Amino acid sequence: MALDKVDAALGLITEIDGFPEPGVRFRDLSPLFADAAGFSTVVDALASTIEPEVGLLAAVEARGFVLAAAVGYAAGLGVVLVRKPGKLPAVAGRVDYELEYGTASLELPAGVVAPGQRIQVVDDVLATGGTVKAACALLEKAGAAVAGVSVVLELAGLGGRATLGDRVVRALSTV
Ligand code: PRP
Repeated sequence: MALDKVDAALGLITEIDGFPEPGVRFRDLSPLFADAAGFSTVVDALASTIEPEVGLLAAVEARGFVLAAAVGYAAGLGVVLVRKPGKLPAVAGRVDYELEYGTASLELPAGVVAPGQRIQVVDDVLATGGTVKAACALLEKAGAAVAGVSVVLELAGLGGRATLGDRVVRALSTV
């Protein structure tokens, strides 16, 4: 894939200082999602980061849903939705974690992930890594193996890669 196309697509991401709290620089992928060429470029680039023998993608609510659904279609894979609390009628597990701004929880639907299944986690941004770490923990508690993590943007200064330990992390851009 032409790197200049990927760079142009990533250039559509905007930065908003002080949202959702003072001191936080928010990365908004909305303009990228709305741009047909940029979106398909990023989806194809993410699809190329999927590790061998992955059988399922895990999407982290909410922006991860947009990306993983498209990547799953492109790569011929299904998606399990890792959800914020209160959305699922039957839950396989729940993990509480720290966010860059506040605390949060994630839940995994019951009966979707098979023991031994190799899963790639997809999200938009890796910041502190708390969200993706929680998603990985949920999947692993369900008996799956996290083959890798694919994100559009890694914010290196917030230590997400270290939080994820020896997991394979693929970011289209690291800033
Ligand atoms: C954002 C982003 C990642 C997470 C990254 O999600 O989409 O999932 O934060 O932060 P971390 O690496 O510090 O955990 P957020 O919960 O803000 O919500 P959204 O996707 O529902 O908008």
